[in-house]
Amino acid sequence: MQRKITLAQVIRIADIADYVGQEVTVKGWVYAKTGKGRLQFVRVRDGSGQVQFVAFKKEIDPEYFEVVKGLTQESSVIVTGEVRADERAEGFPSGFEVGMKSIELVQEAMEYPISPKEHGTEFLMDRRHLWLRSTQQWAIIRIRATIIKALRDWLDNEGFIGVDTPIITPAAGEETTTLFNIDYFGEEAYLAQTGQLYNEANMMAHGKVYCFGPTFRAEKSKTRRHLIEFWMLEPEIAYCTLEELMEIEEQMVAYVVQQVLEKNQQELAVLERDTAVLEKITAPFARISYDDAVDKLKERYEKETNPEQKELLEIEWGEDFGSPHETALAEMFEKPVFVYNYPSAVKAFYMQPVDGRPEVCRSVDLLAPEGYGEIIGGSERIYDADLLEKKIEEHGFTRENYAWYIELRNYGSVPHSGFGIGIERTVAWICGLPHIRETIPYPRLLNRKYP
Ligand code: 4AD
Ligand code: MG
Repeated sequence: MQRKITLAQVIRIADIADYVGQEVTVKGWVYAKTGKGRLQFVRVRDGSGQVQFVAFKKEIDPEYFEVVKGLTQESSVIVTGEVRADERAEGFPSGFEVGMKSIELVQEAMEYPISPKEHGTEFLMDRRHLWLRSTQQWAIIRIRATIIKALRDWLDNEGFIGVDTPIITPAAGEETTTLFNIDYFGEEAYLAQTGQLYNEANMMAHGKVYCFGPTFRAEKSKTRRHLIEFWMLEPEIAYCTLEELMEIEEQMVAYVVQQVLEKNQQELAVLERDTAVLEKITAPFARISYDDAVDKLKERYEKETNPEQKELLEIEWGEDFGSPHETALAEMFEKPVFVYNYPSAVKAFYMQPVDGRPEVCRSVDLLAPEGYGEIIGGSERIYDADLLEKKIEEHGFTRENYAWYIELRNYGSVPHSGFGIGIERTVAWICGLPHIRETIPYPRLLNRKYP
């Protein structure tokens, strides 16, 4: 029977700076162990951070030293010792180490499959439930949490009300090609592609609202930017024009980036993110029309010398942008850039046509720099019941399914606008990640729904 240790004050490693010179207890897991003979170094993580415990044979009970020598990666441990400040000490936060006094082994971990050596992505994704403990993954999920909190804080401070929208819906909110069908007691239903339509009803009750939740798209595309299940935050604002919508978006995005810079320096350092580029993300952002964007892309196309790249950059007015177009456009700007007034034919049915030019609509996408593409899509909404009904029919949707949505326009209809920001694309951009799959704890991809 192993001796129980005497607990000193249990602390979170994140708060270790407050305990220099004091004896503390950390409850966590062994991240790594090094050392030889009489001196052993145990890197302990507790979720809030990581710190190195130093065990010196002649300074601790032999029984404890034996425990230390046998420690395996990811074993759970309760460790006590005295906190020392040491500028050279690595850790989260850095600058501290702990002279070990005692240790209790809670569970001895079996041989851990993820070692510090290189593993392939599929190997790691199959072990995603464990991989989440690795420092880089830990850093990404912490930044994701900051981003979500900052988005909500910003909106809450601006007087928005968070109102939830359903996940199970009777009708499409976006393109019917990406719908997920479910069996609703013998009737057909779908997983929400967006909360927007319900958000518009909620907005009529509360003025400025946002919904935040998981959304689903049966995207047959295998790209660095697409997930099957992703989280979207969608604000909707009464009496708001497209110009006002862009102001809201740029203020909100700039706030989010500044919050990450303020709160997650150590995580950004883990990810080796170039923070100088993030520091430039302040409002306002540039605005260009779709027409001008096509002209710019055509100029860019003419200049391209690589034939493969050139083919990808080809564009005619009226076509939607693909990833290469968005990347090429965004490269022309240091900050995110707004592209507005897209052709109506490539956008959703609910977007308000431009006055006197119905072939384009009052839509706006925000393209992130460094090749990350569209992170926000939004628009002014059609607020005339007859026009909306016509559009719904043109799209081949069943009118009855949208009766309530059309009806909103009969009782005090107002011009209004809203947008959706994709959390994972935003995380990928701010963290500087090459692929969207690591931005969410359990990614759902075309070829993956495990674990
Ligand atoms: O442009 P989208 O499709 O817009 C809507 O769904 C609107 N109803 C939003 C609104 O106006 N309330 O999607 C909005 C954002 C995109 O800009 C992108 O960031 C993200 O959602 N997104 C995806 N992210 C990951 N994987 C996918 N398959 C995504 N599809 C859209
Ligand atoms: Mg879009």
